[in-house]
Amino acid sequence: MAKRWYQDHQRDTWRRQAKSSGYRARSAFKLKQIQDRHSVIRTGDSVLDIGCHPGGWTQVALELAGDGGKVVGVDLRATDPIPGATLLVGDIMASSTLKLIQEENMGMDYNSVISDISPSLTGRYDTDQAISLELSTMALEVAMSLLAPGGSFVTKAFQGTGIELLVRACRSRFSFVRRFSPIASRNASSEVYLVCKNKKPSQGGARSSPIAEIRSGLEELGVVPGNQEESEESVVGFRRYVG
Ligand SMILES: C[S@@+](CC[C@H](N)C(=O)[O-])C[C@H]1O[C@@H](n2cnc3c(N)ncnc32)[C@H](O)[C@@H]1O
Repeated sequence: MAKRWYQDHQRDTWRRQAKSSGYRARSAFKLKQIQDRHSVIRTGDSVLDIGCHPGGWTQVALELAGDGGKVVGVDLRATDPIPGATLLVGDIMASSTLKLIQEENMGMDYNSVISDISPSLTGRYDTDQAISLELSTMALEVAMSLLAPGGSFVTKAFQGTGIELLVRACRSRFSFVRRFSPIASRNASSEVYLVCKNKKPSQGGARSSPIAEIRSGLEELGVVPGNQEESEESVVGFRRYVG
Protein backbone atom coordinates (compact mmCIF):
# COMPACT_ATOMS: atom_id res chain seq x y z
CA MET A 1 0.00 0.00 0.00
CA ALA A 2 2.78 2.42 1.03
CA LYS A 3 4.76 1.46 -2.10
CA ARG A 4 1.72 2.12 -4.30
CA TRP A 5 1.17 5.52 -2.66
CA TYR A 6 4.87 6.39 -3.17
CA GLN A 7 4.73 5.38 -6.87
CA ASP A 8 1.60 7.47 -7.51
CA HIS A 9 3.13 10.40 -5.67
CA GLN A 10 6.34 10.19 -7.73
CA ARG A 11 4.39 9.99 -10.99
CA ASP A 12 2.33 13.03 -10.01
CA THR A 13 5.48 14.98 -9.19
CA TRP A 14 6.98 14.31 -12.64
CA ARG A 15 3.63 15.06 -14.29
CA ARG A 16 3.39 18.43 -12.54
CA GLN A 17 6.98 19.23 -13.45
CA ALA A 18 6.30 18.32 -17.11
CA LYS A 19 3.25 20.58 -17.15
CA SER A 20 5.07 23.54 -15.66
CA SER A 21 7.99 23.06 -18.11
CA GLY A 22 5.66 22.91 -21.13
CA TYR A 23 6.26 19.22 -21.90
CA ARG A 24 3.36 17.07 -23.00
CA ALA A 25 4.38 14.05 -20.95
CA ARG A 26 6.46 13.26 -17.88
CA SER A 27 8.43 10.85 -20.08
CA ALA A 28 10.20 13.95 -21.48
CA PHE A 29 12.36 13.83 -18.34
CA LYS A 30 13.36 10.24 -19.05
CA LEU A 31 14.88 11.25 -22.38
CA LYS A 32 16.55 14.26 -20.75
CA GLN A 33 18.13 11.98 -18.16
CA ILE A 34 19.22 9.47 -20.83
CA GLN A 35 20.78 12.34 -22.76
CA ASP A 36 22.52 13.80 -19.68
CA ARG A 37 24.13 10.45 -18.99
CA HIS A 38 24.81 9.13 -22.49
CA SER A 39 24.56 11.99 -25.07
CA VAL A 40 22.55 10.10 -27.64
CA ILE A 41 21.46 13.12 -29.74
CA ARG A 42 23.86 15.74 -31.12
CA THR A 43 23.18 19.18 -32.54
CA GLY A 44 22.25 18.87 -36.21
CA ASP A 45 21.14 15.23 -35.94
CA SER A 46 18.22 13.74 -37.82
CA VAL A 47 16.18 11.87 -35.23
CA LEU A 48 13.43 9.30 -35.57
CA ASP A 49 11.12 9.07 -32.52
CA ILE A 50 9.19 5.76 -32.54
CA GLY A 51 6.00 5.71 -30.46
CA CYS A 52 6.02 9.50 -30.16
CA HIS A 53 2.47 10.27 -28.91
CA PRO A 54 1.71 12.61 -27.13
CA GLY A 55 5.07 14.18 -28.02
CA GLY A 56 7.22 14.66 -24.90
CA TRP A 57 10.29 12.95 -26.38
CA THR A 58 9.76 14.76 -29.68
CA GLN A 59 9.85 18.11 -27.85
CA VAL A 60 13.12 17.18 -26.12
CA ALA A 61 14.62 15.76 -29.34
CA LEU A 62 13.85 19.06 -31.11
CA GLU A 63 15.69 21.01 -28.39
CA LEU A 64 18.69 18.71 -28.63
CA ALA A 65 18.92 18.50 -32.43
CA GLY A 66 18.56 22.29 -32.71
CA ASP A 67 17.73 24.37 -35.77
CA GLY A 68 19.98 22.39 -38.10
CA GLY A 69 18.46 19.10 -37.03
CA LYS A 70 15.39 17.18 -38.10
CA VAL A 71 12.90 15.26 -35.96
CA VAL A 72 10.37 12.79 -37.32
CA GLY A 73 7.92 11.13 -34.94
CA VAL A 74 5.68 8.16 -35.65
CA ASP A 75 2.86 6.60 -33.65
CA LEU A 76 -0.31 4.58 -34.12
CA ARG A 77 -2.11 7.59 -32.67
CA ALA A 78 -2.18 11.04 -34.22
CA THR A 79 0.01 13.51 -32.32
CA ASP A 80 -1.00 17.16 -32.12
CA PRO A 81 1.38 19.31 -34.19
CA ILE A 82 4.70 20.34 -32.64
CA PRO A 83 6.37 23.22 -34.51
CA GLY A 84 9.52 21.98 -36.26
CA ALA A 85 8.69 18.26 -36.10
CA THR A 86 7.17 15.97 -38.72
CA LEU A 87 4.61 13.69 -37.11
CA LEU A 88 3.44 10.58 -38.91
CA VAL A 89 0.63 8.18 -38.10
CA GLY A 90 1.55 4.57 -38.71
CA ASP A 91 2.21 1.12 -37.32
CA ILE A 92 5.91 0.48 -36.92
CA MET A 93 5.25 -3.19 -37.77
CA ALA A 94 4.12 -2.20 -41.30
CA SER A 95 6.55 -1.86 -44.20
CA SER A 96 4.46 1.03 -45.57
CA THR A 97 5.33 3.01 -42.40
CA LEU A 98 9.03 2.34 -42.90
CA LYS A 99 8.75 3.68 -46.44
CA LEU A 100 7.05 6.87 -45.20
CA ILE A 101 9.80 7.40 -42.61
CA GLN A 102 12.51 6.94 -45.25
CA GLU A 103 10.83 9.36 -47.62
CA GLU A 104 10.56 11.93 -44.85
CA ASN A 105 14.37 12.07 -44.62
CA MET A 106 14.73 12.02 -48.43
CA GLY A 107 16.09 8.48 -48.36
CA MET A 108 19.02 9.47 -46.14
CA ASP A 109 20.00 7.61 -42.98
CA TYR A 110 19.00 8.95 -39.56
CA ASN A 111 21.64 9.74 -36.93
CA SER A 112 19.53 8.68 -33.98
CA VAL A 113 16.53 6.39 -33.49
CA ILE A 114 14.79 6.73 -30.12
CA SER A 115 11.90 4.53 -29.10
CA ASP A 116 9.67 4.78 -26.06
CA ILE A 117 7.25 2.38 -27.71
CA SER A 118 4.90 0.57 -25.41
CA PRO A 119 1.75 -1.53 -25.95
CA SER A 120 -1.64 -0.72 -24.47
CA LEU A 121 -1.17 -2.51 -21.20
CA THR A 122 -3.48 -5.43 -20.42
CA GLY A 123 -2.37 -5.60 -16.79
CA ARG A 124 -1.12 -9.19 -17.30
CA TYR A 125 2.61 -8.74 -16.88
CA ASP A 126 3.73 -11.70 -19.03
CA THR A 127 1.55 -10.64 -21.95
CA ASP A 128 2.54 -6.98 -21.71
CA GLN A 129 6.23 -7.86 -21.41
CA ALA A 130 6.03 -10.20 -24.42
CA ILE A 131 4.36 -7.60 -26.64
CA SER A 132 6.81 -4.97 -25.45
CA LEU A 133 9.74 -7.23 -26.39
CA GLU A 134 8.27 -7.63 -29.85
CA LEU A 135 7.82 -3.87 -30.27
CA SER A 136 11.33 -3.09 -29.00
CA THR A 137 12.77 -5.71 -31.35
CA MET A 138 10.85 -4.12 -34.20
CA ALA A 139 12.32 -0.74 -33.22
CA LEU A 140 15.78 -2.30 -33.44
CA GLU A 141 14.86 -3.75 -36.83
CA VAL A 142 13.85 -0.28 -38.03
CA ALA A 143 17.02 1.23 -36.58
CA MET A 144 19.12 -1.28 -38.52
CA SER A 145 17.42 -0.23 -41.76
CA LEU A 146 17.48 3.52 -41.21
CA LEU A 147 20.41 4.37 -38.96
CA ALA A 148 23.73 5.65 -40.26
CA PRO A 149 26.93 3.87 -39.18
CA GLY A 150 28.02 5.46 -35.90
CA GLY A 151 24.38 6.29 -35.04
CA SER A 152 22.59 5.88 -31.71
CA PHE A 153 19.58 3.83 -30.73
CA VAL A 154 17.51 3.94 -27.53
CA THR A 155 14.61 1.67 -26.72
CA LYS A 156 12.35 0.97 -23.80
CA ALA A 157 12.15 -2.63 -22.60
CA PHE A 158 10.51 -4.45 -19.72
CA GLN A 159 12.51 -6.88 -17.62
CA GLY A 160 11.57 -10.48 -18.29
CA THR A 161 11.78 -13.31 -20.77
CA GLY A 162 13.85 -12.56 -23.85
CA ILE A 163 15.37 -9.28 -22.72
CA GLU A 164 18.84 -10.87 -22.68
CA LEU A 165 18.29 -11.86 -26.32
CA LEU A 166 17.49 -8.24 -27.16
CA VAL A 167 20.58 -7.00 -25.32
CA ARG A 168 22.70 -9.57 -27.18
CA ALA A 169 21.22 -8.52 -30.55
CA CYS A 170 22.08 -4.89 -29.72
CA ARG A 171 25.63 -5.80 -28.62
CA SER A 172 26.40 -7.44 -31.93
CA ARG A 173 25.25 -4.34 -33.81
CA PHE A 174 26.53 -1.45 -31.64
CA SER A 175 29.90 -1.01 -29.99
CA PHE A 176 28.37 0.56 -26.84
CA VAL A 177 25.28 -0.90 -25.11
CA ARG A 178 24.10 -0.03 -21.60
CA ARG A 179 20.93 -0.52 -19.58
CA PHE A 180 19.76 2.70 -17.98
CA SER A 181 16.94 3.45 -15.55
CA PRO A 182 16.17 7.17 -15.52
CA ILE A 183 15.15 8.53 -12.13
CA ALA A 184 11.88 9.59 -13.77
CA SER A 185 10.98 5.93 -14.36
CA ARG A 186 12.38 4.30 -11.24
CA ASN A 187 8.88 4.03 -9.85
CA ALA A 188 8.13 1.57 -12.65
CA SER A 189 10.79 -0.88 -11.55
CA SER A 190 10.41 -3.27 -14.50
CA GLU A 191 11.06 -0.56 -17.08
CA VAL A 192 14.56 -0.12 -18.42
CA TYR A 193 16.07 1.66 -21.42
CA LEU A 194 18.70 0.12 -23.64
CA VAL A 195 21.10 2.81 -24.79
CA CYS A 196 23.14 1.80 -27.84
CA LYS A 197 25.77 3.97 -29.47
CA ASN A 198 28.08 3.75 -32.41
CA LYS A 199 26.25 1.46 -34.82
CA LYS A 200 28.78 -0.84 -36.41
CA PRO A 201 29.06 -0.66 -40.19
CA SER A 202 27.23 -3.54 -41.91
CA GLN A 203 29.76 -6.22 -42.66
CA GLY A 204 28.18 -7.18 -45.97
CA GLY A 205 26.71 -10.58 -46.74
CA ALA A 206 23.43 -11.94 -45.50
CA ARG A 207 22.76 -11.44 -41.80
CA SER A 208 19.66 -12.49 -39.94
CA SER A 209 17.33 -9.70 -38.85
CA PRO A 210 16.91 -8.91 -35.13
CA ILE A 211 13.34 -10.27 -35.32
CA ALA A 212 14.53 -13.59 -36.78
CA GLU A 213 17.42 -13.80 -34.33
CA ILE A 214 15.32 -13.13 -31.22
CA ARG A 215 12.50 -15.29 -32.46
CA SER A 216 14.84 -18.23 -32.80
CA GLY A 217 16.24 -17.54 -29.32
CA LEU A 218 12.67 -17.58 -27.96
CA GLU A 219 12.00 -20.85 -29.77
CA GLU A 220 15.03 -22.36 -28.06
CA LEU A 221 13.63 -21.19 -24.73
CA GLY A 222 10.29 -22.78 -25.69
CA VAL A 223 8.50 -19.44 -25.49
CA VAL A 224 7.23 -19.25 -29.08
CA PRO A 225 6.14 -22.26 -31.11
CA GLY A 226 8.68 -23.26 -33.74
CA ASN A 227 6.25 -24.64 -36.35
CA GLN A 228 3.92 -21.92 -37.46
CA GLU A 229 1.19 -22.52 -39.99
CA GLU A 230 1.77 -19.19 -41.69
CA SER A 231 4.42 -18.85 -44.34
CA GLU A 232 7.49 -16.91 -43.18
CA GLU A 233 6.41 -13.95 -45.33
CA SER A 234 3.18 -13.51 -43.42
CA VAL A 235 4.85 -13.53 -40.01
CA VAL A 236 5.59 -10.10 -38.58
CA GLY A 237 7.30 -10.10 -35.21
CA PHE A 238 6.66 -13.08 -33.00
CA ARG A 239 2.98 -12.71 -32.42
CA ARG A 240 2.03 -16.19 -31.25
CA TYR A 241 3.22 -16.46 -27.72
CA VAL A 242 2.30 -19.58 -25.83
CA GLY A 243 -0.06 -18.54 -23.06
C1 LIG B 1 4.74 5.53 -23.58
S1 LIG B 1 3.98 6.12 -25.03
C2 LIG B 1 5.19 7.21 -25.69
C3 LIG B 1 5.33 8.52 -24.96
C4 LIG B 1 6.21 9.51 -25.71
N1 LIG B 1 7.60 9.04 -25.74
C5 LIG B 1 6.20 10.88 -25.09
O1 LIG B 1 7.19 11.28 -24.50
O2 LIG B 1 5.18 11.57 -25.24
C6 LIG B 1 4.12 4.73 -26.10
C7 LIG B 1 3.53 4.91 -27.48
O3 LIG B 1 3.84 3.79 -28.30
C8 LIG B 1 2.83 3.74 -29.30
N2 LIG B 1 2.82 2.47 -30.04
C9 LIG B 1 2.50 1.24 -29.56
N3 LIG B 1 2.55 0.32 -30.54
C10 LIG B 1 2.92 0.98 -31.68
C11 LIG B 1 3.14 0.56 -33.03
N4 LIG B 1 2.97 -0.72 -33.40
N5 LIG B 1 3.52 1.49 -33.93
C12 LIG B 1 3.67 2.80 -33.55
N6 LIG B 1 3.48 3.25 -32.29
C13 LIG B 1 3.09 2.36 -31.36
C14 LIG B 1 1.56 3.97 -28.49
O4 LIG B 1 0.51 4.39 -29.33
C15 LIG B 1 2.01 5.03 -27.49
O5 LIG B 1 1.61 6.32 -27.87
